[in-house]
Amino acid sequence: MTATDTTAVCRRLVGRTAVVTGAGSGIGLAAARRLASEGAHVVCADIDDTSGKAAAEETGGRYVRADVTDADQVEALFARAHETYGSVDIAFNNAGISPPDDDSILETGLDAWKRVQEVNLTSVYLCCKAALPYMRAQGKGSIINTASFVAVMGAATSQISYTASKGGVLAMSRELGVQFAREGIRVNALCPGPVNTPLLKELFAKDPERAQRRLVHVPAGRFAEAEEIAAAVAFLASDDASFVNAAEFLVDGGIAGAYVTPL
Ligand SMILES: NC(=O)c1ccc[n+]([C@@H]2O[C@H](COP(=O)([O-])OP(=O)(O)OC[C@H]3O[C@@H](n4cnc5c(N)ncnc54)[C@H](O)[C@@H]3O)[C@@H](O)[C@H]2O)c1
Repeated sequence: MTATDTTAVCRRLVGRTAVVTGAGSGIGLAAARRLASEGAHVVCADIDDTSGKAAAEETGGRYVRADVTDADQVEALFARAHETYGSVDIAFNNAGISPPDDDSILETGLDAWKRVQEVNLTSVYLCCKAALPYMRAQGKGSIINTASFVAVMGAATSQISYTASKGGVLAMSRELGVQFAREGIRVNALCPGPVNTPLLKELFAKDPERAQRRLVHVPAGRFAEAEEIAAAVAFLASDDASFVNAAEFLVDGGIAGAYVTPL
């Protein structure tokens, strides 16, 4: 059975409200679909109105335009979710970027460094800060922050600000998971390996050698599909993960465990 097949039988999130950032594409879109299929009301946030609206329409949820680097827009996003559906049960803080001008530290300028930190790390701080008051009032909630396998291992093919931002997401998630555990709130860092999404395709289309250099390190011999990451999001969001907290939740096809890979 594949991750997609299980959507027909899993209904773990009936009546819960999930906010998904970056819901218009890739992992966010696959997660919005999966969370909705398990019964959640999904609030789809993005800065791309076309894809964000399409995601909301497809999942029967709401679209809220929100730039995750803007504190007011992030607060309004979670307020809107609460007003519309009466709770904020799941926050999938997932929007992120991986621009080509974030490269080796020798090449990466301060502007690129700051932009990536804002979109990938400051955004997670803002989203957690906005979601937590609702979850504390409810006495329950699940926050899932998208980090990456690069938060736990280094690459010679560097994207220095991206890697540092994901390390920050992992450390912040761990600490929040510890701080709020006794209030019924779980906070986990989802650490995907490379996934076949527009973000990765765009990066690797420009540099096939870079793609090949990475692929060789994946024991599974392929990149993940977004639906496989979405299945982990649904698990972490659900009560099946009731004792999974402050975790570095790797969904990486075995990369982080590999010394050498099969021929
Ligand atoms: N694709 C991979 O291989 C991979 C691996 C590990 C982690 N990740 C992480 O997963 C997350 C999703 O990546 P993806 O591959 O699905 O990317 P993607 O580019 O397919 O989708 C990202 C979405 O985020 C939106 N977005 C960008 N900036 C935003 C902002 N400021 N405010 C609101 N929305 C914004 C985009 O419009 C887009 O819809 C990112 O955090 C990424 O770093 C991806």
